[in-house]
Amino acid sequence: MTSKRQTNAVDNCLSLSRRRLLKGAAIGGSSLFLGKALAATSTDQEITTTTNTYAAGQIPFYGKHQAGITTPAQRNAYLIVLKLDNSDRQAVIKLFKEWTRQAALLTQGQNIDSYSTNKFLPPTDTGEADNLNAYNLTLTFGVSPSFLEKLGLQDKAPKEFKPLPHFPRDQLQAQYTGGDLCIQSCADDPQVAFHAVRQLIRYARTSMVSMLWSQSGFNAQDSKDETPRNLFAFKDGTANKLTLSTPEEYIWVDNQDWMKNGSYMAVRRIQMHLETWDRTSSGEQDNTFGRHKKHGQPMGQKNEFDKVDSSLTKENGEPVMPVDSHTHLAHNTGVQLLRRSYSYADGIDPRTSQYDAGLLFISFQKSPQQFITVQNAFGNVDKMNEYITHVGSGLFACFGGVKEGEYLGQALLEG
Ligand code: HEM
Repeated sequence: MTSKRQTNAVDNCLSLSRRRLLKGAAIGGSSLFLGKALAATSTDQEITTTTNTYAAGQIPFYGKHQAGITTPAQRNAYLIVLKLDNSDRQAVIKLFKEWTRQAALLTQGQNIDSYSTNKFLPPTDTGEADNLNAYNLTLTFGVSPSFLEKLGLQDKAPKEFKPLPHFPRDQLQAQYTGGDLCIQSCADDPQVAFHAVRQLIRYARTSMVSMLWSQSGFNAQDSKDETPRNLFAFKDGTANKLTLSTPEEYIWVDNQDWMKNGSYMAVRRIQMHLETWDRTSSGEQDNTFGRHKKHGQPMGQKNEFDKVDSSLTKENGEPVMPVDSHTHLAHNTGVQLLRRSYSYADGIDPRTSQYDAGLLFISFQKSPQQFITVQNAFGNVDKMNEYITHVGSGLFACFGGVKEGEYLGQALLEG
């Protein structure tokens, strides 16, 4: 098979839809870093694993809600946080219109423009996703309270939309905190996720935005019906099933004009101290979460999705689920939020010579207060505190979805 770079070099005038046309061939000869368990099918729509199917498909960009929130979590994420360098609202409108156009193409597996035949210009699209499917790419855009301030729109901020408060034990680092805008790019292929962000930033960075911080992450599961395990090896996301059954109640904003049908996104870069965890007994690991590692069932129950019942007691009267366990503390707030987190492994922390690995925690909720309530409940009490440090933070308002003919954030910028 011709390599993708060669393909690019020999044919510098690929049409916009070339990515789609070439997909069948690309997958047919596949070694697309999909892992040894993957075997290619003859169609260009599906890549079959030994146990289940990952559609190499397209998720619509336009809709009532932005994709990438209740969309089943893809395997890979690339999240970027940006500084807005231009406070001219018309310039921001132009940017958001162009981002809308590009996002609508990228999520359908297309390049942002046809390649030019002019060899004196840089290629229109950077090209590393040529021949690749959309891989369920979603692009989710959000803005922070400082974005509104920069544009003189602070009066439009709903009252709960303010920077997250300081939480007990926070050790936030400036390099992973703050920012005016964020883009969450998720796909079942890491290169597709990165490529999309690269195009959007390439257009914007000359005068509109600068890059503050980014984090890539991964999720592993053989089937999207399974709950993936985090780097402590516990199934992470079990309670989401309940939250997703009534998204209007917990996830979607219904009454704040420009945020209607949107959702608030809390981001935390949480370092997980794997070396300490790996020295911890398995009984204590279970006690930390209040769940059993192997099947993910809450203590005192049999199956992963059984009800959390923190009133269960042992013969000696002690609670079956430790009162300082992560599940007990979160569950007893009565608050639900949608967690859509990704693990990360970023080399070695130079301060400690230990892994810089952890969780790119992302949650979506109808109100930032849901996140605040749960995080405050963990406070100094959560048994897991011994094994983690929160080093990054952000809160972003992710607009409602975009209808065809409209653009991202239109209700905010023109309302
Ligand atoms: C490295 C950090 C974290 C890890 C490893 C982690 C892991 C887990 C695990 C394994 C569960 C049990 C299974 C499940 O329902 O998903 C859980 C539950 C939960 N976590 Fe976390 N978590 C972390 C941070 C957070 C943070 C920062 C929040 C929000 C402030 C949070 C909120 C929740 C909630 C709401 C539940 C569900 C509780 C229930 O109702 O059963 N977690 N987490």
